[in-house]
Amino acid sequence: MTSIPNVRLLDDTQIPQIGLGVWQVPDDVATDACLAAFEAGYRHIDTAALYGNEEGVGRAIKASGLSRDDIYVTTKVWNTDQGHDKTVAAMKASLERLDLDYVDLYLIHWPTPARNLFVETWETVLELQQQGLTRSAGVSNFHGEHLRNVIDASGVTPVINQIELHPWLPQREVRAIDADLGIVTEAWSPLASGGLVDDAQLAAIGAKYGKTAAQVMIRWHLQIGNVVLPKSVTPARIQTNIDVFDFELDADDLITIEGMEDTSRRTGPNPDIFNEA
Ligand SMILES: NC(=O)c1ccc[n+]([C@@H]2O[C@H](COP(=O)([O-])OP(=O)(O)OC[C@H]3O[C@@H](n4cnc5c(N)ncnc54)[C@H](OP(=O)(O)O)[C@@H]3O)[C@@H](O)[C@H]2O)c1
Repeated sequence: MTSIPNVRLLDDTQIPQIGLGVWQVPDDVATDACLAAFEAGYRHIDTAALYGNEEGVGRAIKASGLSRDDIYVTTKVWNTDQGHDKTVAAMKASLERLDLDYVDLYLIHWPTPARNLFVETWETVLELQQQGLTRSAGVSNFHGEHLRNVIDASGVTPVINQIELHPWLPQREVRAIDADLGIVTEAWSPLASGGLVDDAQLAAIGAKYGKTAAQVMIRWHLQIGNVVLPKSVTPARIQTNIDVFDFELDADDLITIEGMEDTSRRTGPNPDIFNEA
């Protein structure tokens, strides 16, 4: 079984550097995917209220027989639940569906700037943290301006910023801002939602080490300091996606991957203008 290293966060907690993503995974399938992940050695699951599979994730946690302390669970407050009272209710509903007393990390899913509620929502997440309902407080899809707004208002820096990040969209600017603030960057759609798993350049790099393009991408995330959340419902892929600790990309490999940047291939919306439900 593979052992995945932890990364230390600003609040002195630790997060496993690879987690299983479960976006677009139906509730019952999520249970099997999480169980396959736990068996392979994952201890970190990334879900969200929006994904509709918190119950399935919770069932897997119970069925795993693992101690709650050994599992790291992230969930997120959805856009339409921003604002104090709705966020409190949303967090309680997530915990109920997960059948947990607390999550390890609660994230604001998107800033949705036009709603003008993300600062109030952030202050609410901190309140929920004080109450012990989440160990850590973080954000997702935040740009520098959004980060500065929540930090200025509360004096508290999010420990994680979860953003779309893959070789087409390496997010140099947001990563630099996160690093300056001591925020750990977490990569969502780390394989470009599957769009890069057959990429010839990545496959050629992988051939040098007996690894796949997906493993090369995951290794790249680790080497540039990201926490990384590959999604798969396929047990063999779940397994190989963490078989990435026995090789190292060299400087030439990193330059090749840097050269793949093509921001027009972003898979999700731009957080500055995404305000939808
Ligand atoms: N905060 C946010 O706004 C946000 C947004 C999007 C995603 N996320 C998080 O990030 C996670 C990952 O993002 P994602 O789901 O978009 O996609 P991803 O991890 O970039 O890619 C997943 C796709 O790649 C395939 N795949 C996985 N491993 C593979 C391998 N070794 N070889 C070949 N194909 C492989 C999967 O297929 P199979 O499943 O069929 O194996 C699936 O089609 C999500 O699940 C979610 O937790 C967060």
